[in-house]
Amino acid sequence: MVGPRSGGLALVVALATLALIAAENGGGRGQIIQGPIQAKDLPVRRPPDWQYCNFACAESYNITTDSATNEIFVQVVHKPIAGVTPEMAVWWFKGNVEGDMTHPVDGMTYPRYHVWHPRDHLYQLTKRKSPLAKTVPGSVDKAVWRITEFIIASQRYLKSDANCIWSDEAYANDDIQVVALNITGLFMQLSIGLSNKPMRLRHLWSASPQGLILTSELRIGFQVKGTYTDRKARTVKSYNNKYARKAFGGRDPEGTALLWAQHCLEEFSNMKHFLPALYKNITGL
Ligand SMILES: *[C@@H]1O[C@H](CO)[C@@H](O)[C@H](O)[C@H]1NC(C)=O
Ligand SMILES: *[C@@H]1O[C@H](CO)[C@@H](O)[C@H](O)[C@H]1NC(C)=O
Ligand SMILES: *[C@@H]1O[C@H](CO)[C@@H](O)[C@H](O)[C@H]1NC(C)=O
Repeated sequence: MVGPRSGGLALVVALATLALIAAENGGGRGQIIQGPIQAKDLPVRRPPDWQYCNFACAESYNITTDSATNEIFVQVVHKPIAGVTPEMAVWWFKGNVEGDMTHPVDGMTYPRYHVWHPRDHLYQLTKRKSPLAKTVPGSVDKAVWRITEFIIASQRYLKSDANCIWSDEAYANDDIQVVALNITGLFMQLSIGLSNKPMRLRHLWSASPQGLILTSELRIGFQVKGTYTDRKARTVKSYNNKYARKAFGGRDPEGTALLWAQHCLEEFSNMKHFLPALYKNITGL
């Protein structure tokens, strides 16, 4: 069990990193903890958009803020995603988001990540391979992915755009550690920070005749570790207010959480347009 002091030390180290990043970002709207998006991150062209069904694709969703710690919890229950199975979702996240594909609509070649969400996505790359991959072929557990994307961008930004016209958009530009990927879901957390991670994320899935049943959950904020006390909760709350919430969503973290919910609904519902065919083409299954 972590005592208040040792827990406090871990928190302070994590927060020193966060504080630097938050300061660098100037606390503007919608930063999800890391450096800004630069022109070099943008593509020269983008694939055609899908029809984004956003909140219409939600069975239900929720944003709740814990009054003791100000931790934000977003829960999104998606409507079943037609034609997509848990096996396809596992295959997709097991190294197959990276690379190119032929677009089923215009026949051109694009990064798969862009096909997945044509308006918002910039890139996803493996920064650190899974240490387990040597013994468990294809494993991504404990791998680190760099994920760079807009969160509900107001337009399709390209490299040719005037520099930084996107600076008011919400975005993610983070190193995300994969905790686990298996037939029940994908579990991730922010790579920075020690044992008390300021952002945790999971997608829980199962099969149904109507398609993939999916619940997505995002937690923003440090948590009380070990035995709960009001004093620990107050400390965590002040760190969450000063750093985690600000780094996630500037002056409007709950508003940014709502944008994240919409982005998440869009990107997962987009899968039905390309993933079953791509999976079949490549795996033959
Ligand atoms: C929203 O909040 C309620 C009450 O806390 C909870 O019962 C429900 O499962 C939550 N999630 C969704 C997606 O509605
Ligand atoms: C999948 O991973 C999660 C998170 O580590 C774990 O709790 C769960 O038991 C795993 N399920 C299976 C079937 O391996
Ligand atoms: C399927 O694979 C073939 C051969 O690799 C490729 O030429 C074709 O464009 C692929 N189609 C799709 C929809 O991915």
